[in-house]
Amino acid sequence: MSAPVPWTLDHIAADEVARPAMRAAIRALYTEVYAEEPYLRTEADAEAWDAGVLAQHLANPYFRLVFARSTEGGVPYGFALGTALQPDTRWWSGMLDPLPDRMTREDGRQTFAVYEFVVRKQFRRQRLGTAMHRALVGPWTGTRTTLTLRPSAPAAVAFWARQGYRAVGFSRPYPLSPVYTMMLRDHEQGRFRDGWGPGTPSDE
Ligand SMILES: CC(C)(COP(=O)(O)OP(=O)(O)OC[C@H]1O[C@@H](n2cnc3c(N)ncnc32)[C@H](O)[C@@H]1OP(=O)(O)O)[C@@H](O)C(=O)NCCC(=O)NCCS
Repeated sequence: MSAPVPWTLDHIAADEVARPAMRAAIRALYTEVYAEEPYLRTEADAEAWDAGVLAQHLANPYFRLVFARSTEGGVPYGFALGTALQPDTRWWSGMLDPLPDRMTREDGRQTFAVYEFVVRKQFRRQRLGTAMHRALVGPWTGTRTTLTLRPSAPAAVAFWARQGYRAVGFSRPYPLSPVYTMMLRDHEQGRFRDGWGPGTPSDE
């Protein structure tokens, strides 16, 4: 493990994300971390994500983004992004073995989905990811949180199991995409109230 790195976590609202400097910082983190295996995403993939997927997320009424940086000097360390699943979500539609209807009906208040989650390599295994996850989902008032992960990403598999997620099947979210493991976690609001570490978000 490298030397501990004191961090600050900030919640960034959608209108702030739209500002060029913040948008560029998020895209740089996305590009750097997802260039790693097994993702191997390119600059072009990051551009497409920024222009298409991120732009759609920003319109979600429950958009949340947690940005991590060094307390001294503001060096970016990572970010986490999620939104509430709306009634018209396609989140569950790629399941290879469809789940029962009662598990996949969404109303915008039940399920929070973690879409992106990156910590730069040199700042890992210091509980920063754990603190980012708390900051991202802690205030959620619904009953569950979900995400997809690549089964061939051992750090992600171990990390999400440690955060209390369980696998509920496999998903191919769009044709020709890799297969992802669909993860679900019961959420109790308030469970994260205690034990905030150095990563306590500055606006809560
Ligand atoms: C997955 C990721 C976010 C974890 O971030 P992190 O800041 O290192 O996570 P933490 O330090 O909070 O780890 C908490 C626990 O998760 C588990 N864990 C995290 N990384 C692990 C690894 N590489 N191997 C085994 N266990 C791991 C451990 O139990 C760890 O606790 P410990 O260090 O006391 O053993 C980070 O590795 C990352 O950004 N990976 C690349 C992008 C990615 O895969 N994102 C997830 C997409 S679904």
